[in-house]
Amino acid sequence: MKILVIGGGGREHTLAWKLAQDEQVSRIFWSPGNAAARLPQKVEICNVRADDVHALADLAVKEKVDLTVVGPEAPLVAGVADEFHQRGLRIFGPTRQGAQLEGSKVFSKQFFLKHGVPTGRAGIFSDMDEALAFARKQPKPLVVKADGLAAGKGVIICANDAEAEKALREIMEQKVFGEAGQQVLVEECLSGPEVSVHAITDGTHYKVLASAQDHKRALDGDRGPNTGGMGTYSPAPIFTPELESRVRKEVFDRTLEGLKADGIPYCGVLYAGLMLTKDGPKILEYNCRFGDPETQVIFTRLENNLASVLSAACDGKLGSVDLRWKSDAAVCVVIAAGGYPGNYRKGDVIDGLDDASRCDGTQVFHAGTTLKDGRIITTGGRVLGVTALGKNHRQAVDHAYGAVKKIRFEGMQYRRDIAAKAL
Ligand code: AMP
Ligand code: GLY
Repeated sequence: MKILVIGGGGREHTLAWKLAQDEQVSRIFWSPGNAAARLPQKVEICNVRADDVHALADLAVKEKVDLTVVGPEAPLVAGVADEFHQRGLRIFGPTRQGAQLEGSKVFSKQFFLKHGVPTGRAGIFSDMDEALAFARKQPKPLVVKADGLAAGKGVIICANDAEAEKALREIMEQKVFGEAGQQVLVEECLSGPEVSVHAITDGTHYKVLASAQDHKRALDGDRGPNTGGMGTYSPAPIFTPELESRVRKEVFDRTLEGLKADGIPYCGVLYAGLMLTKDGPKILEYNCRFGDPETQVIFTRLENNLASVLSAACDGKLGSVDLRWKSDAAVCVVIAAGGYPGNYRKGDVIDGLDDASRCDGTQVFHAGTTLKDGRIITTGGRVLGVTALGKNHRQAVDHAYGAVKKIRFEGMQYRRDIAAKAL
């Protein structure tokens, strides 16, 4: 079997690494990839960009790829799956229409309300004055959201009328998020602990994946600015069996029924961002892709062959798959470039990667790395995801931080408290 993995971050390195362990997989094309060291021989880096939908399909045809796995959301929202289907190619990831669950907050809110998926109350507006008038009448704080993809920045929590007006003017008049701000949601502010849950689906059946908890803030103790994620652990004790059963019934079952009722085929990831309010779990958003760095810990714990699981999803046969997980805990510590998530350093030489990889139970997944003159240098904000297994969270933490200490580059930063809440 030949596989194409689309994307170039830590999530995609993890997917390529896991897929390569499958004996039935003979080649993996990874585009655009990164400078991941120690890739198995069967993995080949290609230089087609993740958003060049036609060139990716050309590559899959030319190399006779049997299965394509999409990492990031942008190619999905741009219709990469539609293009592959038209050419008769198998791809794990929803079509443009299904990807609207992530790509449009208006679409997803209307979907939740129509199909009874518990979510916050919201008004939807394309007119500035109507949005303002509505916002003034709502209790504060409230949340203003741009409809489209805004690199994780399109959600603004507003404490009072003045802040709500500022947010609405920025999004709708100054268009700080571009076309993503054509429409807005003015949403009820929910409170409670946040958890995220991944499921994979073939459109009829779904499987909930092992739980994972991200750390979104840049600094220890959940302080500092929001990031793409500074580290993860799995399992996440907050995701109890009782909570799982409630989320299955109220969120995933209703979502699958809704997709069916609306005639939207969906093969891919449903990654739900939930808030555990006092009235029960409510959905904040769906992502149509795996989380990064959740992928790093989830797939380090998966026992099954990933290629078989994802093939079954593409063939509508996920119902016959039984997912098995290692009882070990996994922890991923992200090492970021100096300055991240603001303007960050680039081009720093990374040392100690081989030493780190030799540590017990450890994999160093590359994210923002590239090769220059035979050396691995930094090129992205999140540079590495040092991921380790251990017989419990304590041991996984010790293994991961033991490996982190072997790695050096100018300006490197990482959190010291990943998984502390699980200890
Ligand atoms: P989203 O992109 O919709 O997941 O929003 C990003 C973050 O904004 C979430 O992880 C929450 O922390 C926060 N957020 C989004 N919607 C709400 C809401 N209705 N009430 C409170 N916080 C929210
Ligand atoms: N780690 C959060 C995300 O992938 O959206």
